Amino acid sequence: MGEVDETFIQDPEHRPCLSIIEAEDIPLIDLSPIITSSSSSNPKAIKEVVKQIGSACKEWGFLQVINHGVPVETRHKLDTAVREFFKLPLEEKRKVRRDESKVMGYYDAELTKNVRDWKEVLDFVVKEPTVVPASPYPDDKEVTQWYNQWPEYPPQFREACEEYNEQVVKLGLKLMELIAMSLDLPANRFHGYFEDETSNLRINYYPPCPSPHLALGLGRHKDGGALTVLAQDDVGGLEIKRKTDGEWIRVKPIPHAFVINISNILQVWSNDRYDSVEHRALVNSEKERLSIGLSLNPAHYTLVKPLEELTDEQNPPKFRPYSWGKFMTHRKLTNFKKLNIDNIQIDQLRILE
Ligand code: OGA
Ligand code: NI
Repeated sequence: MGEVDETFIQDPEHRPCLSIIEAEDIPLIDLSPIITSSSSSNPKAIKEVVKQIGSACKEWGFLQVINHGVPVETRHKLDTAVREFFKLPLEEKRKVRRDESKVMGYYDAELTKNVRDWKEVLDFVVKEPTVVPASPYPDDKEVTQWYNQWPEYPPQFREACEEYNEQVVKLGLKLMELIAMSLDLPANRFHGYFEDETSNLRINYYPPCPSPHLALGLGRHKDGGALTVLAQDDVGGLEIKRKTDGEWIRVKPIPHAFVINISNILQVWSNDRYDSVEHRALVNSEKERLSIGLSLNPAHYTLVKPLEELTDEQNPPKFRPYSWGKFMTHRKLTNFKKLNIDNIQIDQLRILE
């Protein structure tokens, strides 16, 4: 059946529709008032941006930003290095292969909801080393450290990646300020959570696929962190599930823009005011596609729960508290094993009414 191995084939209800539906786009927000002026100099323009961010988060869970302050050159350098890396022979790429003891690095056999993704990935932590729990077991207090495995080729890879991470984390934290303001919280409300951040960079390389109607580059999922900042190239393939009707909507690539999405932790912090929306990536039979996602994640010891300022008797907490570090180690472990159960989802932490 088809021309791809059956491990890649999606159940019929999850197969993509390849004819592009012309639909409204996710909101595009110009951040120049934030980036070019100090926050006191143009309060009216900033208020307007905060308003746009708030309605995009509420209605879509997704948005794109332009004039975001990340230099074009920073992005270009990483893009070039990454394309060179993925062209290397498999045995060279596998020198930085990730496994159960070295969890960052190259991987070419990832599963999403137990179906294989048509992609190769590279994972890095932003802070080296990143301190995390040693195991997912709640009573085990031991911690461990995650290190990166830097490719030897191309030689400029590490520098390009570190520069990119620094710039994009800065943008991510700026966005967290705008999101805080959109929830009527102080701009710096979230900063403390990220002092010992566990943020990570995920580079997705999707080779051309002979059966793009049967397989997906990345199966439907929600992101686990607080916020994701994604750079996609001009090929296109990212789809998000529209909140109003559950339709899959293609996100149009815009040169130099970043796609931003609310991830699970922000959904919990905001007590469902903002949703973490399901998304997936399609492949095509002609072109390779590259996307680079930075997930902004809090310290491992963060107990994630609805913010007290956003809950009261009329609006009680909708989620049970959970340990971010334990959640993350559980996810990492299930990455290496084909399990009979899905990954833990935040909906399992929902308090039933
Ligand atoms: C991700 C992701 C989308 C894309 O890496 O979590 O959703 O377009 N990527 O590659
Ligand atoms: Ni994602």
